[in-house]
Amino acid sequence: MNYALTYDDIQLVPAFSNIKSRTNINLRTMLSRRYGLLNPIVASPMDTVCEFDMALKMAELGGVGCIHRFMSIEKQAKIVEQLCTAIHHDTDFNTSLAEAWGVMYDDWHGEINHVPIMAAIGVQEEDKDRALALVEAGANVLLIDVAHGDHQNVIDMIHWCKTQDDLVMVDIIAGNIATKEAAETLLAYGADGLRVGIGGGSLCTTRIKTGFGVPNVTSLEEVLKVSGVPVMADGGIRSSGDMSKALAIGAETVMLGSLLAGTDESPGQILETPKGLYKRYRGSASLETKVTHGQQTRNVEGESTTIPYKGGVKFIVNGLLDGVKSALSYAGAQNLTNFYPKYVVVTNAGQNEAKPHLL
Ligand code: XMP
Repeated sequence: MNYALTYDDIQLVPAFSNIKSRTNINLRTMLSRRYGLLNPIVASPMDTVCEFDMALKMAELGGVGCIHRFMSIEKQAKIVEQLCTAIHHDTDFNTSLAEAWGVMYDDWHGEINHVPIMAAIGVQEEDKDRALALVEAGANVLLIDVAHGDHQNVIDMIHWCKTQDDLVMVDIIAGNIATKEAAETLLAYGADGLRVGIGGGSLCTTRIKTGFGVPNVTSLEEVLKVSGVPVMADGGIRSSGDMSKALAIGAETVMLGSLLAGTDESPGQILETPKGLYKRYRGSASLETKVTHGQQTRNVEGESTTIPYKGGVKFIVNGLLDGVKSALSYAGAQNLTNFYPKYVVVTNAGQNEAKPHLL
């Protein structure tokens, strides 16, 4: 039997650094085979995380938000269209992105659709109509958003996408997976990116209900043995330290749910309670989500909860990116391509030592 590790089981080992200022550190990365980002954060396609406001703010900050699919095709396509329009019209945003990417603004402006516009689809017959509508509205990255990505339905959907003339410029990210074999399969069918992580999300009950899942560090290591396309570490990321570990292992991006939920930009009302302000955060396979969207209430594999209201997501993202930049400086890396510190497995004593332990 093999051991499997997750983020708390490891620590990154410091290495020689000559980084003089963290402001010189570049977090540019790839989201998928053809689409890049200025920072590695992807907002999860959950109905309490990412619709228009979140996706727009994430794009402005240099990451990306994936528009969730728990709504009509028309509504999701409309959000994508509004997003494209908003981004096209924001000249300051265009200029700063172009500068950060090191290309002439005019050159880059002609290539505006290189800014990733990302939306989720499922694997049912109607998701083919969804995919076409989203792409017509301006999406250029589609995420096949299912819990078990090592599945014939996912292969069939990748194959269908890859044989559509209208989707030639669209990258397909597939998942979720946790093994080398699953990565080999999805790559063989042409996936342009892989989403990794089964049962490790903050509201997931998959491992409890089914016994299936692989701790996050090991699932990333397994997939990275074969992957030739960008890998997204999804689920269970609670801090910039966890983000840094995922990126150090070799993920190009991290997908965040709970860290971005509860903000101004996440969908849902602010709830005023005697204990303070809160927002709902719910698993995509939770009973609450299923009831809200009129789905069958069987096969519940997620929880729902209220989390403290956090204000603008910009402050959360900037704090996380500061932490990751600091991590790169501990490794002596100016950018993510050169960020591959060693890591060690720690004991319980090491885990306790890693937390503030005086109080
Ligand atoms: P975090 O830890 O960032 O995780 O809150 C977000 C990721 O959790 C996954 N997800 C689920 N997994 N049941 C699950 O087993 C669910 O109901 C559920 N909802 C979300 C998903 O991968 C997301 O990005």
